[in-house]
Amino acid sequence: MRTKEIKILVSEYKNAEELITNDRELVLAAREIAATAYAPYSHFKVGAALRLYDGSIVRGSNQENAATPVGICAERSALFWANANHPDQAVVAIAVSAIDQKGEHAKNLSPCGICRQALLEAQHRYKQPIRVILDSREKIEVLNNVECLLPLSFNGNSLNGVK
Ligand code: THU
Repeated sequence: MRTKEIKILVSEYKNAEELITNDRELVLAAREIAATAYAPYSHFKVGAALRLYDGSIVRGSNQENAATPVGICAERSALFWANANHPDQAVVAIAVSAIDQKGEHAKNLSPCGICRQALLEAQHRYKQPIRVILDSREKIEVLNNVECLLPLSFNGNSLNGVK
């Protein structure tokens, strides 16, 4: 038996002004698109903005449904649109922001497990790490790689026995 420690690095910024220009632009895009969320059930409006390899930005918001599992998170709504419309473009970064049930900038935001798995797939698909920028009310967290959000993940390599 051996015990291993898995560390992740998270850079924490006080606000969007502290970010590098590219990240700040992505955060502002995520904040803006959050307003388009269709969230009549949770009243939690999430926006996601992706940076593609060519520098362009693709955005998405959460889209809910009376039949709960049918709804989709902002991250996957943006990611799948990007993959469908720009399949030749790697996703290099994602920013996520949300407006909570009180209409305020959400306090703690982090992608759900399904979105983490979906983002990890894009990272493997394009062989390019995706920078993750989580825009919460009192801090902005930046991670350099989706694997930081999903250690010990299941991925395509697991299917064919590659370590
Ligand atoms: N949601 C997202 O779109 N992204 C996240 O990172 C967290 C949760 C959505 C799903 C649902 O529509 C609402 O927020 C409440 O969970």
